[in-house]
Amino acid sequence: MEQTIVFNKELISRYNLFGPRYTSYPTATQFDENFGIKEYHEVVTDSNEILLPKPLSLYFHLPFCNTVCFYCACNKVITANRNRAAPYLKDLHKEISLQGPLFDRDRVVKQLHWGGGTPTFISHDQMSDLMRHIRDNFALLDDDTGEYSIEIDPREIKPETVSLLRNLGFNRMSIGIQDFDISVQKAVNREQSYEQTRQVFDEARKRNFHSINVDLIYGLPKQTVRTFCNTINKIIEMSPDRIAIYNYAHMPRLFKTQRQINEEDLPEPGEKLEILGESIKSLTDAGYIYIGMDHFAKPDDELAVAQRKGNLYRNFQGYSTNADCDVIGFGVTAISKISNSYSQNIRTIDDYKERLEGNNIPVYRGYKLNHDDELRRKVITQLICHFQLDFDEIEDLFRIEFKDYFSSEIKLLADMEKDELLKIEENRIIVLPAGRFLIRNICSTFDKYYDKKSNKNTYSKMI
Ligand SMILES: C[S@@+](CC[C@H](N)C(=O)[O-])C[C@H]1O[C@@H](n2cnc3c(N)ncnc32)[C@H](O)[C@@H]1O
Ligand code: SF4
Repeated sequence: MEQTIVFNKELISRYNLFGPRYTSYPTATQFDENFGIKEYHEVVTDSNEILLPKPLSLYFHLPFCNTVCFYCACNKVITANRNRAAPYLKDLHKEISLQGPLFDRDRVVKQLHWGGGTPTFISHDQMSDLMRHIRDNFALLDDDTGEYSIEIDPREIKPETVSLLRNLGFNRMSIGIQDFDISVQKAVNREQSYEQTRQVFDEARKRNFHSINVDLIYGLPKQTVRTFCNTINKIIEMSPDRIAIYNYAHMPRLFKTQRQINEEDLPEPGEKLEILGESIKSLTDAGYIYIGMDHFAKPDDELAVAQRKGNLYRNFQGYSTNADCDVIGFGVTAISKISNSYSQNIRTIDDYKERLEGNNIPVYRGYKLNHDDELRRKVITQLICHFQLDFDEIEDLFRIEFKDYFSSEIKLLADMEKDELLKIEENRIIVLPAGRFLIRNICSTFDKYYDKKSNKNTYSKMI
């Protein structure tokens, strides 16, 4: 598929609404407490009993950070006290021991991810113990073919950490950078030098990590087109395999630490768009492919290859090449996706401990998808990953007449068609280059639960 995007400022400003990121459908706002431990056990049992049980994807949430970055919207616990990790890890081990036996041992772990917070907040011994315990309870792949990744904050790493992680089986890493400009870094309380970051990056290359991603954020305080271009140029020179450029979601009512950001320092909407536009231009000129929704990759990276082959998917970590995994989330707030269900673990460390002391899986809410949800999830995933939707495929899979079933949605797409964001043909929808950046808007048309007017406090702006 042709990988062009058109960055049309006028269209982007007009369509820039608040909306979901579709790392799940339905989104977490639909989860409720009618889905609990009993329901979780039922879906897991069923997932083992189908003809071809799916392989597994394991996510581990390590919530601690040493200092707070003011912009941060992640689920984290800020503490300078390293001793706080030990009791949490004890509970995490317990959860792994409870979950392991629920899944048939022949279900191999194709994907594994440690996210945070800051996974490297814990000591080397704690990392080794955790991986050993995971290995004791699940069938990890020992031939380096799994996608085993970890989020790295270069400020939280020792000289030997990267080689230790490689020896533990990790072969992908995502490095948090955000911006190299010192005044931006000061304004968000995250001072991290280029050299410090470069060292981790070079070490990861030396240790043969298969894919290295870097995270950047546009729209941070004190950012200008000029300063962010400097950051982007340094990134291009480093040459990571993947680049995520997230839109800074400023929601101080939801995230208290964001109140420490001086709103007058935030770039004006026009400048913010310009920052994004220039970044896209530099990255595409440097040969990166726009995958979709904040993500860029080199043409030979697995994400770009998967997109070309038509088997790219989306999960809680963003884009992914493995479709058919059941996802088990471990640790506070972690989300699982088993068969046609989502479930989420309890939020606080104290509640988590209490659940595990009672030998209970710490799931506290979830959602079981009905036929309509599964159908809409397929439509949204297809559009967000491939910018194209073939009606025949959906009709075969779900036994519907696409144009009848989605007649009101197709009418709603008419304005976007007039604006040349997409084209509706006899048998398919094609997202045009100007629509690629607005893919969240296009997808939200098929989201039964999305209400444009009342979503202001729940979701971030799309761009
Ligand atoms: C869990 S953090 C990354 C790991 C590690 N703690 C670090 O900071 O390097 C995941 C990513 O979310 C992004 N992020 C966090 N808060 C955000 C916000 N308010 N808006 C946009 N992106 C955000 C950042 O790019 C960050 O690197
Ligand atoms: S960005 Fe990373 S290090 Fe900073 S507070 Fe968030 S999770 Fe912690």
